[in-house]
Amino acid sequence: MGASAGISLDTDFGDGWNAAPVFFGALIDSIGGADRDRTDDLLNAIQALSHLSYGPTEPRSIAKCRSRGQSLMARHTRAMTEAREIYVHGHHDSVLRSHTWRNAENSAAYLLPHLRSGMDLLDVGCGPGTITVELAQRVAPGSVVGLDREIDVLDKARSIEDGHRCRFVEGDVYSLDFPDESFDVVHAHQVLQHLREPVAALREMTRVARRGGVIAVRDADYGGMFWEPSEPLLDRWLELYQAITAANEVEADAGRKLPSWTRVAGLSSCEVTSSTWTFRDPEQRAWWADLWAERVTSSSYATLALEARLSSREELEQIAAAWRRWAQRADAVFVVPHVEVLGRAG
Ligand SMILES: C[S@@+](CC[C@H](N)C(=O)[O-])C[C@H]1O[C@@H](n2cnc3c(N)ncnc32)[C@H](O)[C@@H]1O
Repeated sequence: MGASAGISLDTDFGDGWNAAPVFFGALIDSIGGADRDRTDDLLNAIQALSHLSYGPTEPRSIAKCRSRGQSLMARHTRAMTEAREIYVHGHHDSVLRSHTWRNAENSAAYLLPHLRSGMDLLDVGCGPGTITVELAQRVAPGSVVGLDREIDVLDKARSIEDGHRCRFVEGDVYSLDFPDESFDVVHAHQVLQHLREPVAALREMTRVARRGGVIAVRDADYGGMFWEPSEPLLDRWLELYQAITAANEVEADAGRKLPSWTRVAGLSSCEVTSSTWTFRDPEQRAWWADLWAERVTSSSYATLALEARLSSREELEQIAAAWRRWAQRADAVFVVPHVEVLGRAG
């Protein structure tokens, strides 16, 4: 069976399936640098392996081979991305204020009916952990791990965890430091939109999920956001955000991409739903507008926009003022659409 233009599994595995890990090792060694074509070959080979129907004689060696291929791929992807990938928002106070408002009900409602007492759960890209600790209450006494790449934000998460139900650890979604099949639920909220390789991240999340376990991802879709009354400088805010994320090679309109990313990553039985955040009351929209006004001038949004010469300090100040002005308008409303996918591993 040919897995891609460059690889034929039948011919390359001349010694039988037990040679496959060696084959993957040799292949990854030969890829080197940023040779995307060979990386795609490897991904195709791994995917072909997971779709083959195996005879009864060698399932263990094939599983070993697939697992080794996936972890080699994760290591390779990490090496390719970690030098370049920037978390566009950073962890400025204005960003954390929005993240700490999030909870299980307003950000993970689609997952809640699937949680059971005693489940082991991993929350990837947990940020300040407000969602994680509430998920932990729902699966207690199951073990819960919140994982993030940023050490500082993990300190915040640890500070709100008083029941010792969760462990917060530093880590990278591309290369999770857990054995295969460690968790019943692997969750990521607003994380894939910040990754250059969301499919690789999903594959790694799937690796650490138990067979039949839940992979749950939810992302906003910037292109789908809308607000009233119209305000040209808010149009410019969105245009600038999309330019910043494009320059960083990540996807601002991630919500609409989740169904295809999860399919390509090999998740099965995917349920696709959507839900929104709506900022309508004067207090809610003042809070939302203030957050963005501050982010636009003080967070990584500002630094990246200025560094890439996409905007000027003066224009950023104007956008911030427009946000605050907009929040004062009678009948103002801002809607943030999200897509969520709940799929199964194995
Ligand atoms: C928008 S925040 C979401 C935080 C939290 N899930 C929430 O919704 O409140 C995205 C988080 O993903 C983390 N992150 C980004 N890239 C990551 C990676 N490669 N591995 C692990 N975490 C990552 C960031 O540090 C950040 O805390």
